[in-house]
Amino acid sequence: MRAWPKDGIAFGGDYNPEQWPRSVWDDDMRLMREAGVTFVTLGVFSWSWLEPTKGEYTFEWLDEAMDLLHANGIAVDLATATATPPPWLTSAYPEILPVDHDGHTLWPGSRQSWCPSSRLYRELALSLTDRLAARYHDHPALAMWHVSNEYACHNLPCYCDTCAIAFRAWLEQRYADLDTLNDAWGTAFWSQRYTAWEDILPPRRTTTFANPTQVLDYHRFGSDTLLGFYREEYEVIRRHSSQVPITTNFMTLSNFRLLDYHDWAPLQDVVSTDHYIVDSLEHPRAELSFHGDLTRGLAGGRPWILMEHSTSAVNWQPVNPAKAPGQTVLDSLTHVAHGADALGFFQWRQSRSGSEKFHSALVPHAGEDSDRFREVCELGAISARLGELLGSTVEAEVAVLWDYEALWAMSGPCMPSSAIDYATAPHTFHRILRERGITCDVVHPSADLSRYRVVIVPTLYVVSDENASAIASAAESGAHVVVTYFSGISDLDDHVRLGGYPGAFRDLLGVRVEEFFPLRPGEVVPLSGGGTGSQWSEDARAVDAEVLSTYAAGPLQGRPALTRRAVGEGTASYLGTLPDDATLGSVLDEVIALAAVTPAAQTPPGVEVVRRSSSEGSWLFVLNHTTQEHEVTVTGHDLLTGRDVGPTHRLAGLCAAVVREA
Ligand code: GLA
Ligand code: ZN
Repeated sequence: MRAWPKDGIAFGGDYNPEQWPRSVWDDDMRLMREAGVTFVTLGVFSWSWLEPTKGEYTFEWLDEAMDLLHANGIAVDLATATATPPPWLTSAYPEILPVDHDGHTLWPGSRQSWCPSSRLYRELALSLTDRLAARYHDHPALAMWHVSNEYACHNLPCYCDTCAIAFRAWLEQRYADLDTLNDAWGTAFWSQRYTAWEDILPPRRTTTFANPTQVLDYHRFGSDTLLGFYREEYEVIRRHSSQVPITTNFMTLSNFRLLDYHDWAPLQDVVSTDHYIVDSLEHPRAELSFHGDLTRGLAGGRPWILMEHSTSAVNWQPVNPAKAPGQTVLDSLTHVAHGADALGFFQWRQSRSGSEKFHSALVPHAGEDSDRFREVCELGAISARLGELLGSTVEAEVAVLWDYEALWAMSGPCMPSSAIDYATAPHTFHRILRERGITCDVVHPSADLSRYRVVIVPTLYVVSDENASAIASAAESGAHVVVTYFSGISDLDDHVRLGGYPGAFRDLLGVRVEEFFPLRPGEVVPLSGGGTGSQWSEDARAVDAEVLSTYAAGPLQGRPALTRRAVGEGTASYLGTLPDDATLGSVLDEVIALAAVTPAAQTPPGVEVVRRSSSEGSWLFVLNHTTQEHEVTVTGHDLLTGRDVGPTHRLAGLCAAVVREA
């Protein structure tokens, strides 16, 4: 085995040599060396090439690929190949196929066609993992183990009978007896009271709304079930391979919501994740930065691995635009700014057949004589030059809370508004702070909040008593807490906290809300002092808080929209609506001033700044996401150009600087 590449930012991606004739492999090695590739992920979807029929193993090609990579100095992140079963397996054991909400079998012919609860599938997968680990644990190219692939992608939730049985067992663990379950699920409503465990089903398609707590528990069950599978694969690998780090690639992009990564992260030797730009978002690069801060939060502040992203277009949107020249490098450096110590892509060589033939890659269809490949080579060279900042961290004085259980519960059926999305408020606050050069950690509500000067609590619909009181204690001891609408409404069973909203934060905020007045898509309400609110409004009364802004028209005219209360050494502000960017900006400017939070640097709009630091020094990432040239104030040595810069530095559009500060 070898160490994970440490000379620079590790650089590479998914390598699928089985898609190509052997004659192409030598060319792959030549081009990988040219591009500066230092690691590849091998074998993610290789099961049918490793075990073409039951019990017949064909590891020779993988031996050869591993040897070849080693000979070329490239480290291997070796996959367990268990993400997708081969056709012989699903033919022999059709009972492992997943079933959708409507009871339809999801047939093979694509990928990930297996039920997350299937013991049979697990046994077959574990036996392949066992063979791989036994064969390659001491291979000199091996630097990391990559378990499965993007757990939950495509096959969760599954509603099959196997899942029904497993769900009952999970519920018995959680609730012990049916009275407790009936109480938690509120089954007195609509005659849903259970008197036998066997009567409980997954929340399959039904006449109308399913029980919301049942749906919430089905999310928890799905995440726990796959985590159980991950643990089993982990243990099988560890029996053969005691030292090599083990990971599975998360999907912390904000439109993937199926796993509670706060439970998964502690079981990773190193947190790794995938990220793709979603072009339909209004602020796709702000989402990229949010994703980086969320991943760093999952990694406990330590550096993480970007296992996959794309050099250019993806193939799964209705329309898939290519990246502009420079954006391959700029997007990658943005991930590094937020704490990535490795840059991986899907995939090395663009496929000529199959479902992802129009997904970009490091080597495009056009071949090495292409601007994209030249930019890839430039990125490889840059990655090699950034070795000095490996292991450095990103320090933030502001926390934005993010919680998958709140997300699941809030996304449930029959809410006051289906027009508000869990991610909107956290993304908006994060984006407005990012525009001000202020770095945020995105962390779970149970994180240690004592280290933050500002704590943002956006649409934390469900919150436990403990986490609510930790948020209040943070304010007592000097933090400036900002809570938004639709936070603290329910407990972990999704039972509403009574006596006026927001139950869990009513005392902290000194605000009591009697009724919600959610706004329709596109509807805005004017605020006193200028600006408008969107998404939400509510009939709030300031019981013990200063009113900073009220609704200026409509049924809530004169009612508080923004309040603040002094709490111990800190403050607790409340926003009953989502103000427009400029208004929210001035609200946050005030909070930042109260908290004396400092930006990483002052920059023009569209130029992002993040600082990484260690005992060795500090590096300021200046990321110009606009297409115009901008001037920034920074002094030091730019690792990208190898030149000293400052006190002002002119940065062209879609360009970056990574400045070792004096
Ligand atoms: C995911 C998968 C890859 C590939 C990419 C395409 O991240 O892990 O196999 O399908 O999406 O964007
Ligand atoms: Zn199932």
